Amino acid sequence: MNAYFQSTIFRKILAALSGLFLTLFLLGHLAGNLQLFISGVEGKTQFNKYALFMTTNPAVKILSIITYVSILSHVILTLYLSIQSKRARPVQYSVSDSNENSTWSSNNMGILGTFILLFIIIHMKSFWYEMHFGDMPYQYLEDGTKIKDLYLITTSAFASPLYTMFYVLSMVALSLHLRHGVDSALQTIGLKVPNYHKVFKHLTSFIAFIIPAIFASIPIYLFIKNL
Ligand code: HEM
Repeated sequence: MNAYFQSTIFRKILAALSGLFLTLFLLGHLAGNLQLFISGVEGKTQFNKYALFMTTNPAVKILSIITYVSILSHVILTLYLSIQSKRARPVQYSVSDSNENSTWSSNNMGILGTFILLFIIIHMKSFWYEMHFGDMPYQYLEDGTKIKDLYLITTSAFASPLYTMFYVLSMVALSLHLRHGVDSALQTIGLKVPNYHKVFKHLTSFIAFIIPAIFASIPIYLFIKNL
C-alpha cells in the first residue's frame, strides 16, 4: 500500500486531479470576471461587492486555499514526473513529431506550464496581492459604507497595451496547455472510453478553446473601453 502512494501512477493521478480541479476553478473564475462587462456605477458596485464576498466568505477562503495547494502540487508533481520520464528515456524518440498522439502542445507542456506559472505570479501580484495587502482605493456606496475598489484597479490595469498583450498571449499558452492537459488527465483517471475517443478529443479541444478565448476577451474589451 505504501509503495502505491510512492508510485508514478499515483503521482500521475494526483497531477491529473489537481489539473482538472484547476480547470473547474477557471470556469468559476471566468463566470465571476464576466461581471467586468457590466458598465457604469452598477457594474463597478456589483464587481466590488463580489470581490468583497470572495475575499471574506469563509467557504470561499477554504476553496481558495485548495486552489493555491492545487497550483503548487500540480507544478511540483508535473515537474517531478517529467524529470523522471527524461531520466528513464534520455534519448528522445527520433520520430516523435510524426507520432499521431504527439502534437506541439504535448511536446511543450513544460514550456507552456512555466509561462502560465509566470502569468499567475504577475497576475496575482497585480490583483490578489493589491486586494489583500495593497494600499487600495475605495468606492463609497449610497448608504455611506466604503468598499475596496478592485474594479478600478482591474479596469485601469488594462489601459496598458503591453499588459493587455501579455494577457492575450498567456491565454494562447493556456489554451494549448489545456488542449493536451485535459485530454491527458481524463485518460489518466480512466474516463476516456475507447469508443468515444474522438468525441472526448473534440470536447476537450472545445473546452480548451472556449475558456481562454472568453478570458482573453475581457482585457481586450477593457483596453478598447479605456481608449
Ligand atoms: C484574463 C482575465 C482575468 C481577470 C480580469 C482576472 C481577475 C482577477 C482578479 C480581479 C483577482 C483578485 C480577486 C481576489 O483577490 O479575490 C484574481 C485572482 C486570481 N486569479 Fe484571475 N483573472 C483573469 C484570469 C485568470 C487566469 C487565466 C488564471 C489562471 C491561469 C487566474 C488565476 C487567478 C488566481 C489563482 C487568483 C487568486 C484566487 C483566490 O485567491 O482565490 N486568473 N483574478
